[in-house]
Amino acid sequence: MFDKYNIYCRIDMLIINLEGDIMNDIKDVVEQIKNRCDIVSLISEYIQVIKTGNTYKALCPFHQEKTPSFHISETKQMCKCFGCGEGGDAISFIMKIENLNFIDAVKFLANKYSIEFNNKFDEKTREKIKKAKIYENIHLEAARFYFANIKNSKAYNYLVSRGIEVKTIKKFGIGYSLDEWHSLKNYILSLGYSTDDLESCGLFIKKIGTENIYDKFRDRIMFPIFDYRGTVIGFGGRVLNNDTKPKYLNSPDSLIFNKSKNLYGLNLARQEIKNDTLILVEGYMDLISVYQSGIKNVVATLGTSLTNEQAVLIKRFANNVIISYDSDEAGTKATLRAIDILKKQDINIKILELLDCKDPDDYIKKYGKKSYENQIENSKHYVQYQIDILMKKYNLENHEQNINFVKECIKIIKGIKSNVEIDYYVNYLSKISNRSIEAIKKDIYGNYYREYKKQNYKVEKKTEVIDSSKIKNYAEKSIIKMIIEEKSLRNSIIDKVSINDIFLDESKEILKYIIKNKELDKIDIEKNKLFDISQDYIKDLKNITYDTENIDNLINIMKKNTSHMRMLSIKNKYKFDF
Ligand code: UTP
Ligand code: MN
Repeated sequence: MFDKYNIYCRIDMLIINLEGDIMNDIKDVVEQIKNRCDIVSLISEYIQVIKTGNTYKALCPFHQEKTPSFHISETKQMCKCFGCGEGGDAISFIMKIENLNFIDAVKFLANKYSIEFNNKFDEKTREKIKKAKIYENIHLEAARFYFANIKNSKAYNYLVSRGIEVKTIKKFGIGYSLDEWHSLKNYILSLGYSTDDLESCGLFIKKIGTENIYDKFRDRIMFPIFDYRGTVIGFGGRVLNNDTKPKYLNSPDSLIFNKSKNLYGLNLARQEIKNDTLILVEGYMDLISVYQSGIKNVVATLGTSLTNEQAVLIKRFANNVIISYDSDEAGTKATLRAIDILKKQDINIKILELLDCKDPDDYIKKYGKKSYENQIENSKHYVQYQIDILMKKYNLENHEQNINFVKECIKIIKGIKSNVEIDYYVNYLSKISNRSIEAIKKDIYGNYYREYKKQNYKVEKKTEVIDSSKIKNYAEKSIIKMIIEEKSLRNSIIDKVSINDIFLDESKEILKYIIKNKELDKIDIEKNKLFDISQDYIKDLKNITYDTENIDNLINIMKKNTSHMRMLSIKNKYKFDF
């Protein structure tokens, strides 16, 4: 999950804008760190590491556990926790355990191994880093200034009228920008900053053709925007009435702020993640309302449609997202877009329904926390959500529309990774459209369907089964895929299958691993560098679609196939004719 530096570069606001320069400057420092640092001894300085065979294991320092699922590979110089998914190389380990950003982690390790670091940056880069630091400080001072202004202000009364409590105002640092042109400017200048510093930090506007600089935000409720570490990098300012436009004014992108790479509230939500899940809302007030009610694992996209970078950021902290956007048409559209973006990051997606309310803030006010939690519990699988939307568009009584509806649904179902889920929606689609399961499956599985059918057919007919499909050892690989993917079926399959029933060495290796690590939610064979599985094998696994109702048949095929192949190899040895 985090073996690539650029992921970190993308999420760290300071580094994002300097990415290119910095990477060039410190590439060889990173190289030297890699030469000198041994990840096993580095990690041993923090936690107790146990050697078992060729791998090193430890209790994961990043989540609570009783049996060690944190693996360290000496040869790859990588670590990975099979419980919580954290992992990476020495630098990412230090980032995580010392809570440092990428640059500081490199600095930390350079210092540790006596590698020269400071003179690596060229003049231009050093200037930029200095400037970014100044902007961050100005933002912090501005947040303090706005916050100090809110006491006894009309903004305070407005917030109270919307149900915002004092402790929430403090938690989020909500403030007020006075109805004046130069109040923040004068305050910042009084702290010793220069006009130069103010110019492009995002909080001021320079009147074109003059030297006149004035405050960008006036007479607005100010929501400081934090990056995931809690540094103030921008602001959103709301008007106190509903007439003035724009309703929200946001900081422009700057050296320290990039709207599309940041999520509002993540600095707080990351400490409150529950069930590996984040709730995604649209606006400041939605987030604050949901958070104030006591549901704290919530982040907001702030009006822009969700970006790929934001999805990558989410994936760092949670594997499940519940989208809770506004219920209007714009919200529905944004939800559909967000689904596509989150899917690309392999995030499990559900959609929360707001009944008669327009947004989460509205919902919490009307029905309260318990009810919202209930909606979280009952949130819809994204495929169900998409099918429901399509259903409203088509008249299923009409023959032609019915067919088009089914085609659209098939496109959606094809995008599902889990075969159990595919199976569920195939049945569901068949029911609502009155089309046969057979026809829907054919369209979904395409070329592999024939092979899949062939295997099943042979079992039904109880004929001798030889490996004749395009995918060699289809049944065995299906079983392996199931135990990798279906945690709930694992035990029952493992009970029925022994290592001797398996023919391929690769399958054996995977099975042995899974027997030892049954509690893992999902096992990523491809990314797991701790055992060797060929690319061809992985490709076959990807192409297989299994039917969990067919487990016993598949196990039978596999057993027969294994004994058949063994016989074959014995007979070949003695050159018998088969
Ligand atoms: P909404 O209009 O749904 O606002 O826009 P809201 O969060 O419900 O705010 P209240 O309840 O009216 O106070 C959702 C988000 O879109 C962005 C803001 O981030 C807002 O929170 N937005 C909206 C803007 O950036 N500018 C705008 O003019 C309006
Ligand atoms: Mn609202």
